[in-house]
Amino acid sequence: MPVKPDDANVKEANFKAKLGEAMKKAKSLTAFLFGPEDLVAVDIGTYAIKIAEVKLENGAAHLKSWGYIPLAAKAEASPEEKKAQIINELRAFIIKKGVKVKEVATALSGNSVIVRYVKFPRLTKSELSATLATEAEPFIPFDINEVQLGFHILSDIVEEGQKMMETVLVAAKRDVVTMRLDILQGAGLSPTIIDVDSFALENVFEMQRDPKAEMGATLYLNIGHSVTNLSIIENGVTRVVRDIFISGNTLSKAIMKAFQVDFNKAEELKKTYGIIVDPAEKEKALQEGQREALGVSQAVVNVVKDMVGEVHRSVDFYLSQGPERSIGRIVLMGGVARLKNLSKHLGIELKVPVTVLDPFSIFKDAPADLPADLAPSFGVAVGLALRRNKDWL
Ligand SMILES: Nc1ncnc2c1ncn2[C@@H]1O[C@H](COP(=O)(O)OP(=O)(O)OP(=O)(O)O)[C@@H](O)[C@H]1O
Ligand SMILES: [Mg+2]
Repeated sequence: MPVKPDDANVKEANFKAKLGEAMKKAKSLTAFLFGPEDLVAVDIGTYAIKIAEVKLENGAAHLKSWGYIPLAAKAEASPEEKKAQIINELRAFIIKKGVKVKEVATALSGNSVIVRYVKFPRLTKSELSATLATEAEPFIPFDINEVQLGFHILSDIVEEGQKMMETVLVAAKRDVVTMRLDILQGAGLSPTIIDVDSFALENVFEMQRDPKAEMGATLYLNIGHSVTNLSIIENGVTRVVRDIFISGNTLSKAIMKAFQVDFNKAEELKKTYGIIVDPAEKEKALQEGQREALGVSQAVVNVVKDMVGEVHRSVDFYLSQGPERSIGRIVLMGGVARLKNLSKHLGIELKVPVTVLDPFSIFKDAPADLPADLAPSFGVAVGLALRRNKDWL
């Protein structure tokens, strides 16, 4: 092991102390053993913050409060300004809604976090904890001293006579984790769980899954503003998980370019028109010279084509992993799931039924003021709010 420079050691010690302090504050003994009954989830996306406060009672989940705080208008702000803005918004929300819970779950995705399915020689959990940095180093494309590592042992296997174990490895850039902790603590909350977007989404999937109705695996696409989380789940087990950097922002940029308009106008055009899928509708738009509708549809379809290419790559990888594998359905989430005719278009392109998931559908007593048009954006927040006792990082 290379000797770390002193300042890296100091930084690491500071980081651990900070994390330890936060965790100590957050976890009473019962909460530590069973997970908190009541948890507030804060999904800080690049477009909007999504908040869900959930109480678990006798196995049922109750939504106590929710919040949607748009952020995109101030996209040009510096990281420090963005941090201050988010802290202020969160504080205001907590006061306004009278949120008493301090335990908070949050998740990371995109460039700052990496997930790898890795086979290690069989070790106990504590043995792997002790040697994690050394074992993980070959699989992590970041400097191992600059990441926070987490793992979960999936199953024991025997490969070529060797006892091995299948493991999920998670590495998150330490500065990003620290930034997130600073924001949540700055808002007066106690970070209890730091998860990964795709894994948080699995919780929603588990809650609404009907094993009897399953025909093949489910492909999830959580299409946000900066990133699309893709996962393929087979009989409740995640087989593929990756982030694709084609998302809402890519669509808006394509529209900006096609129409020579600014970001806000492109957002408006994107949300107004979406995709024209019906040939008769397209013909009508051509005859009537609907320049905007046709131009937006064309720009969006070009971007979606790239996304479909990435989806095909992941599906091919999954299908090549074993016989009798198939994708039975595609489930869309994230703000872009609302794009007009996207699910229809993807269904035609990928030849699989596509549905848009409303994560709030898992609550029996969801309040009436929940906005249906924002619902698909809440996948990560709702999934996180269901998390108990599963800390990744
Ligand atoms: N009705 C709509 N039609 C098309 N796009 C929409 C619609 N509503 C929202 N969007 C887009 O959805 C995106 C925001 O989705 P979401 O809230 O899931 O992102 P985020 O979680 O903040 O981003 P990320 O996780 O990628 O950082 C934006 O690009 C926004 O323009
Ligand atoms: Mg998101």
